[in-house]
Amino acid sequence: MKNKISDIIKLKKLSYSFSTVTAYDFPTAKIINKLDIPLVLVGDSASMVVYGYDDTTKITMDEMMLITKAVSRGVDTALLVGDMPFMSYQPSIEQAIKNAGRFIKEGGVDAIKLEGGIEYINQIKEIIKSGIPVMGHIGLTPQSVLQESGYKIQGKKSEDAFKIYKDALLLEDAGVFALVLEGIPEELAQIITKKLNIPTIGIGAGKHCDGQIQVLHDLIGWFGLKIPKHAKAYTNIEKNVKEGIQQYQNEVKNQQFPSNVNINKMKPKELLALKKKIEDL
Ligand code: KIV
Repeated sequence: MKNKISDIIKLKKLSYSFSTVTAYDFPTAKIINKLDIPLVLVGDSASMVVYGYDDTTKITMDEMMLITKAVSRGVDTALLVGDMPFMSYQPSIEQAIKNAGRFIKEGGVDAIKLEGGIEYINQIKEIIKSGIPVMGHIGLTPQSVLQESGYKIQGKKSEDAFKIYKDALLLEDAGVFALVLEGIPEELAQIITKKLNIPTIGIGAGKHCDGQIQVLHDLIGWFGLKIPKHAKAYTNIEKNVKEGIQQYQNEVKNQQFPSNVNINKMKPKELLALKKKIEDL
């Protein structure tokens, strides 16, 4: 059965932390679908890990739609959240609602996520008012990479931490159903988690959040990207893929592949007839 927004809110009451993850394609979505993962995010991190851009400011709505549709065909248990890409909600409330609507109608997601606190509170309120559930995302917001000249842990100083705390309250008040806390000190994440009635989902925010989220490619050691401090690779898919392709190359070279099991043969009678036809041509 598919998780609903109310199921995600109930995760706040669990006595243990829950895990969520990003997905960007159909086969991975099918694997995640068999696991007990309550929420899957089609992250705009796809900009880097799928499309090979430098950061998340480059990916477009159309590029997000392509992968979101693929993921939604593979997920029928987790609540599916689509990540609003850079400049899909910043320019105006109208654009924000229109693009959030595309995620629901075209992408097949159940909710959207967008980055920012007070700066985009009107967009968030109006998207929710139009009937689309929103997951918030504050702290280190990767779409601010150009403005911030890099990825910097946020909220280390008390005044910055207080702004993040106030943003968290504002977002809960606006009606977001869950809140991603990225790249903030553990103590701040703990204070926010204790204060809110909605679940917090941390990435680089320590162990006191209600749940965690990770970029799939970091978790599985895919694509050779440098693994960030907040992540841990639990397997090495890149190594497996590399070994598989190299073995295939070797077997092709040595004529071990394709072998008899991979080959279709003509009946000798048909082969003879073909040769005769060629001769008579
Ligand atoms: O784009 C993304 O993958 C994200 C998270 C991991 C929170 O926003």
